[in-house]
Amino acid sequence: KKFLLVDVDAGVDDAAALMMALAAPNVEILGITCCFGNTTVENVCKNVLRVLKKCNHLQIPVYQGASSPLLNTMKKDYFYGTDGLGDVPDADAPGFDQVQQEHAVAAMIRIISERPNKVTLVATGPLTNIALAVKMDPTFPKKIKNMSIMGGNMYSRGNIDICAEFNFAADPEAAYIVLNEYTCPTAIATWEFASSNSLPWEFYEKCTSQDSEKARFLKEIYTVTIGYQKRPIPKLRALYRKPGFVSCDCFAMAAAIDEDLVTESMFCAVSVELTGSHTRGMMILDIDDRLQKKNKVSIAKELDVEKFKGLLMAALK
Ligand code: BDR
Ligand code: CA
Repeated sequence: KKFLLVDVDAGVDDAAALMMALAAPNVEILGITCCFGNTTVENVCKNVLRVLKKCNHLQIPVYQGASSPLLNTMKKDYFYGTDGLGDVPDADAPGFDQVQQEHAVAAMIRIISERPNKVTLVATGPLTNIALAVKMDPTFPKKIKNMSIMGGNMYSRGNIDICAEFNFAADPEAAYIVLNEYTCPTAIATWEFASSNSLPWEFYEKCTSQDSEKARFLKEIYTVTIGYQKRPIPKLRALYRKPGFVSCDCFAMAAAIDEDLVTESMFCAVSVELTGSHTRGMMILDIDDRLQKKNKVSIAKELDVEKFKGLLMAALK
């Protein structure tokens, strides 16, 4: 079995990504750590519990982590509704008392240390918890088997800002720390990668019309977001955004579940802009190796679409 530790800011696409991992027979999730992001960290914890309940996996421990970035104040992003899950009321939501007492960062360090070089860390939110773990325990990055991150951008196109993708823009210092102090194989699914690999709306309909509680749940929580995604795509954005359904976090999760999912990557050093009038939070790619950095990451370029669709279908079965 593959052991995963998942750090999320759930968020409907984090929810979809979690459902993918919960349905994968080769995967065991050891814990879910929560970070602020799409909504407050309290809502993120509640949202994760709701997803776990729908999937009959409430036994997986959920930990509350950072409530704000290292320096900024929290960016507002209501792409997924104010509660992160499309503002759909849920009378059966599990109580907050089901969240563990241990802090997410302490749990992260412990879980990784209990199984050195055996656990894949999947990060689908701002990187604040992971940056704090690196600073609390400098040996932590060495014990991670590999990391799969959704965040950043490869061609300086942003979603929350001109040049910055939400997860990195939400905490640029954290992204900087993680991408300069990691020592494990690291793969990144960027904003442009996700946007250029959207899935046809017919597939989305087929997938979410499966006769299951999970499919009905996902379809419901995605309603607000789908409304945004179906808006006409401005001409310049269409250079990289393909029409169709995009679930950003699913790419990083799918890459962690199946190492053959990404069929082509760029292997280079990266960093994150911390200053600049328009570029704070932007990821930069050192394609000519000018920085001569030892650590290099794999930036996803191409993927096996059929495999990706298969994982999504299975998630909602
Ligand atoms: C990322 O930002 C969040 O809004 C999503 O959950 C995803 O992780 C996309 O830029
Ligand atoms: Ca997310």
